[in-house]
Amino acid sequence: MDTSAIVILDFGSQYTQLIARRIREQNVFSAVLPCTASLDEIKAYKPIGIILSGGPSSVYDADAPPADPRILDSGLPILGICYGLQFITHHLGGKIRPAEKREYGFAQVSVLDTELPLFAELPATMEVWMSHGDHAQELPPGFHLTAKTPHALAGIANPERRIYAVQFHPEVQHTKQGTQLLKNFLFRICNAKADWTPAHFIESTVSAIREKVGNGQAICALSGGVDSSVAAVLVHRAIGDQLTCIFVDNGVLRRNEFFKVQDTMRNKLRLNLDAVDASGRFLTKLAGVTDPETKRKIIGNEFIAVFDDEAHRIMQTRGEVDFLVQGTLYPDVIESSSVKGPSQTIKSHHNVGGLPETMKLKLIEPLRDLFKDEVRRIGRDLGMPEEILERQPFPGPGLAVRILGEVTPERVALLQEADDIVVTEIKNAGLYKQIWQSFAVLLPVKSVGVMGDQRTYAYTCAIRAVHSEDGMTADWVPLPYEVLKIISNRIVNEIRGINRVVYDITSKPPGTIEWE
Ligand code: XMP
Repeated sequence: MDTSAIVILDFGSQYTQLIARRIREQNVFSAVLPCTASLDEIKAYKPIGIILSGGPSSVYDADAPPADPRILDSGLPILGICYGLQFITHHLGGKIRPAEKREYGFAQVSVLDTELPLFAELPATMEVWMSHGDHAQELPPGFHLTAKTPHALAGIANPERRIYAVQFHPEVQHTKQGTQLLKNFLFRICNAKADWTPAHFIESTVSAIREKVGNGQAICALSGGVDSSVAAVLVHRAIGDQLTCIFVDNGVLRRNEFFKVQDTMRNKLRLNLDAVDASGRFLTKLAGVTDPETKRKIIGNEFIAVFDDEAHRIMQTRGEVDFLVQGTLYPDVIESSSVKGPSQTIKSHHNVGGLPETMKLKLIEPLRDLFKDEVRRIGRDLGMPEEILERQPFPGPGLAVRILGEVTPERVALLQEADDIVVTEIKNAGLYKQIWQSFAVLLPVKSVGVMGDQRTYAYTCAIRAVHSEDGMTADWVPLPYEVLKIISNRIVNEIRGINRVVYDITSKPPGTIEWE
């Protein structure tokens, strides 16, 4: 690659990919490599600088991550962050004092060396997100203290060797001026050029996929959402019709979605699409079931069964399938790999990623280093329509988790109509893009109403609209009364079977976004 590259060596911090993201935000290419990468592997990227990430270990731990200390003699500019600082200190002849316990939190940092290029355009005191782990007690020869907190060392440097290190995390949002610090490292110390763009990502990903797949066949479960669609389009660009996308109607999709997605995928994106109407299969299995978890499990298992059947059918015509494309994003990677304590299952999430392990397919996950907004950027560069890229998240189990109690074809039809009205009116009000999710929920509660001179006795519909960053927490959105009024009027007037509309004003926690 002919762009400026920064190699980030990963010592196990949960923030390592954030460093990469912050660098990409500056249009500089960055690659995260395990800290065990050899000097040759690192040099293959022709880096103009190296960042040593944080990590949970102590340099004195028996299982301290073993990076090659020769990187410190490579002559390349180096920025050590947190554990990276200790690695530098330890391997260049300084001393680390082990901490009794590790703490994380805000700290006030005073810059001591205001001439240092790393601190250019930064104030003399900054609020930073510090990780108080081990402390550097004795600096290596040639290094000086560049910043400190009231209690601890916060930065060291050897400008002659272009080795810099900070004890805090410039990559996290809590460190308000962190981006400027990283920019200083990139542009003042490494002389990076801001020449890495989505087009570069697409080009290198496409050629890597092409090489990996060769003449093989790949399949992909499409949901019509942003992630699986962008992944499919990228892979399609690499291997064309060696990719078959499978899109399943599980009976709980939104109104006309089965046809709309097919139209977009086939006619606009030119994907080789296998659309399977399995709605009957799903709805039969769901009949009589009211427990939310059981409903989720039925849909998850049935999806796997349908996908498996389709994959076998495809193999009969196309030959052996070796690869499975998934739209896994970086937050999914962190969620599944981070060390978590025993936590209660709130909901068993099912999405198009949960596919049969027995199929023994090799994974292609072209988006696994990216965050959602980066995926949208890539999608735009691939020329994908906004209607896909800006689509609000829609859960794998679809409308089934928005129909409380039993899912019946009649209830699905009612909710599809209500959902369509909510989405249309939110779009008409110009609010769709600003809101994380906005939808209708069908409650199995009937109440008395009056229409003209007629008594009605019909279902209740709840409207839900939430703001969220990542779905983990959410705030209910105070939709304008005018919009609520239009939605409510349209629902009760246009949908026979719903005669009451209520508004959900619960945040998450304690509520969840979906009702089941
Ligand atoms: P909850 O309801 O748990 O939802 O607050 C958080 C976010 O996740 C979405 N969601 C799902 N997405 N499969 C998915 O792909 C699922 O089973 C699933 N359940 C919830 C939900 O829409 C919200 O954005």
